[in-house]
Amino acid sequence: MPTPHEYAHEHAERFRQELHDLLRIPSISTDPAYRSEVRRCADWLAAHLRGLGMTAETIPTNRHPLVYAEWMGAGADAKTVLTYGHYDVQPADVDEGWHSDPFEPEERDGNIYARGAEDNKGQLWLQIKAVESLFHGDQPPACNLKFIIEGEEESGGESIAKYVAENPEKLKADVCLISDTGILAFDKPSIIYALRGMVATELTVTGPDHDLHSGSFGGVVHNPLQVVAEIVSKLHNADGSVAVPGFYDDVVMMSDAERAELAKTSWTEAEVATETGVPQTWGEVGFSPRERAGGRPTLEINGIGGGYAGIGFKTVIPSSALVKISCRLVANQDPDRIYDLLKAYVAQITPPTVTVEWKKFGGGHGALVDIHAPEMQAAVRAYENVWGVKPVFLREGGSIPVVADLQRHVGMPVLLIGFGLPTDNIHGPNEHFNIELFHRGVDTILHFYEIYAG
Ligand code: BES
Ligand code: ZN
Repeated sequence: MPTPHEYAHEHAERFRQELHDLLRIPSISTDPAYRSEVRRCADWLAAHLRGLGMTAETIPTNRHPLVYAEWMGAGADAKTVLTYGHYDVQPADVDEGWHSDPFEPEERDGNIYARGAEDNKGQLWLQIKAVESLFHGDQPPACNLKFIIEGEEESGGESIAKYVAENPEKLKADVCLISDTGILAFDKPSIIYALRGMVATELTVTGPDHDLHSGSFGGVVHNPLQVVAEIVSKLHNADGSVAVPGFYDDVVMMSDAERAELAKTSWTEAEVATETGVPQTWGEVGFSPRERAGGRPTLEINGIGGGYAGIGFKTVIPSSALVKISCRLVANQDPDRIYDLLKAYVAQITPPTVTVEWKKFGGGHGALVDIHAPEMQAAVRAYENVWGVKPVFLREGGSIPVVADLQRHVGMPVLLIGFGLPTDNIHGPNEHFNIELFHRGVDTILHFYEIYAG
């Protein structure tokens, strides 16, 4: 019998071919037109997990199904590991600049290119293939195994939030593993210990009850697009901080020790400028880029719409205008409270010439992970075994809303052990996952199981 590592190496090619099959399913959760593809993806995963010898089910929700699987064969005294992942993906259109079909995976220059290759199908797959390797190793798995996989992480995640709150017993485990983040660089492993939370909103500003001729009514009624611009211009202060009163009330400041630790992994203003193509960086005065993106809350304008932006010219005062605003939050900030504060402030700065309607999307709390937990030490050693160097600890600016829910309702430590690279272009065109890192990921997870469960 091979060891789990030997099994994983022998079957490496097949692991990737199966991943290609998974990537061919366009499970775009935000677009109702793909509803049946999302469902097909859930069924496909449940069937695959059953094939590995686990019991697996798809759990219907108000939107997209969850996939749950378990194998409790290690017995009541053994530890239990829960793995979380998401099988839904962001939309992708060839026109956005893809060099190959986003749903026809292609391997070139050491990467797999496809929507979801990294976020999150590739990373979910390396977790599943590590578990398959455990089942086929020289000894049965030393711990019980559970999977909870969601289908709407990229579009709100309300269903899993509800499920976790209502079913903490079913998900109970000694530790939760998540590979949905990345490492610092190919040869610089890192472990994420903080994620930001999120509140996402949409504001419709309405003036006249129909579009007007700007010659007849310009200067007579307030243009809703102008009102949106006036509101948006008051959301930040000159020093880059957010102007919403109370926004920073619950923020826990980073300690000097933590700032010093983060300073070790340099990400200079010049590097950010080169990476993003901006002539100059921007942000809250007094904080480094890494602190601004990981340790501070922010407010972003994600989109503004209304009026005429087509070819040529139209002299119109639009009836309404729309703006999408989201806030990234740090642990301890409550998304509902931030939403209320934002609404109250916008009400205060909105002129009486228009009416405003709000819509709130899903979001969630930020999360902090204890880097001194014993489970974390097993993760550190697992990376060290594969890379030959110790991983550094990093904060991540992105969000995985379920993490805080798992910590709060199930009460278990969550480890964010991912294998993506900052250059993978997740959510963008030509998303890719490094093939070598996919296989190192399988190996690292196997090391984790060995160290953690013996
Ligand atoms: N995998 C990402 C989280 C992430 C982002 C990790 C950047 C590392 C770097 C996740 O799938 C994601 O995109 N989350 C959304 C959540 C939001 C829609 C609530 C995000 O951060 O925008
Ligand atoms: Zn994502």
